[in-house]
Amino acid sequence: MKILTIGTSIITTHFCEAVLKSKHSTINAVYSRDLKKAESFARPYNALSYDNLEHALNDINIDTVYVASVNNLHFKHAKQAIEANKNVILEKPSTHDAKEFNYLLEMAKNHKVIILEAITTMFLPNHAWIKENIYRLGIIKSVYAAYHQYSSKYEAYLNHEDPNIFTLTHSGGCLVDLNVYNLHFILSLFDTPKKAKYYPVLGYNGIDISGVAILEYDSFIAIASASKSHHGDQTIVIEGELGTLRVSSAANTLRHVTISTKDATFSSDIIDTQNVLEYEVLVMEALLKEPYNDSIHNLNNHSLKVIDIMSKIRKDANIYFEGEKNETLF
Ligand SMILES: NC(=O)c1ccc[n+]([C@@H]2O[C@H](COP(=O)([O-])OP(=O)(O)OC[C@H]3O[C@@H](n4cnc5c(N)ncnc54)[C@H](OP(=O)(O)O)[C@@H]3O)[C@@H](O)[C@H]2O)c1
Repeated sequence: MKILTIGTSIITTHFCEAVLKSKHSTINAVYSRDLKKAESFARPYNALSYDNLEHALNDINIDTVYVASVNNLHFKHAKQAIEANKNVILEKPSTHDAKEFNYLLEMAKNHKVIILEAITTMFLPNHAWIKENIYRLGIIKSVYAAYHQYSSKYEAYLNHEDPNIFTLTHSGGCLVDLNVYNLHFILSLFDTPKKAKYYPVLGYNGIDISGVAILEYDSFIAIASASKSHHGDQTIVIEGELGTLRVSSAANTLRHVTISTKDATFSSDIIDTQNVLEYEVLVMEALLKEPYNDSIHNLNNHSLKVIDIMSKIRKDANIYFEGEKNETLF
């Protein structure tokens, strides 16, 4: 991949470091609203720097755009990149809702490019291991996924400094930022629930600072719990009639998985790097080499399902991002 990055925060640095490890891809250009920021970000990668996105997207040395802008700009930036005939790696949460993501998928098809949501969970070797081994639990009876992490921006939020991730203007909140990983994990294993509901804890500006999503299935209830206002559990526990699966991290990294049954214990420690984005980059490189395969279609359908359920439970909990109520986003 010959990559243009959008967004100059720490996640883009992690992504670029993962790209450097791959040897088959390069960071060719960096876009920032601020040219100086773009230049200093681009320097270690010997990349070009732009403060004009249109010019950056016209660069013929780029075939893929990594979009790690603020959430409310994902749709706009992905749309611009596809219009310029570039593949798109779109940070989570992909878009506001399924309508927007579907629109991008349709556009990508017409422009013969690929769009993929950068959700680490789906690319982790332990995710594949869990999918292969979950049958050992028998009929599932209970699912609990927790991602409770005190945000480095929470203090600024309490000081009314409006960090992006704690505002409705920038489409933030705990559901789309952290619980999105739990939802991706649960929905990738168990498909569409019969019912789903979100119980948020709201801060002073109406943003969800923590919350619990309850997904109802035939034989069990799945609880997806996340918090940006306190540090706590980062774990997954799935209980079945025949055994229990435990993950000793949140769904974004899926580190150290064990399954204990009456007769045996199975475990997987496949993850061997701190930077889990390396797996994402490797899989994406492979997928982009064969752009019309089923894996891309399946990943996109999965992302579509997650964003659809997530946006519905969010709106049902009366959390609307700026501009959503009048539906003028196109
Ligand atoms: N996969 C993961 O593990 C992971 C982890 C963290 C975050 N993320 C995702 O990555 C994305 C970026 O997250 P973040 O926490 O880095 O967000 P952020 O710092 O708030 O914003 C990301 C970038 O958007 C630009 N930006 C900031 N405020 C803006 C504004 N008001 N208007 C226009 N552009 C603005 C900035 O780029 P310039 O100043 O250079 O223009 C900034 O570097 C989010 O979608 C988040 O969900 C993913």
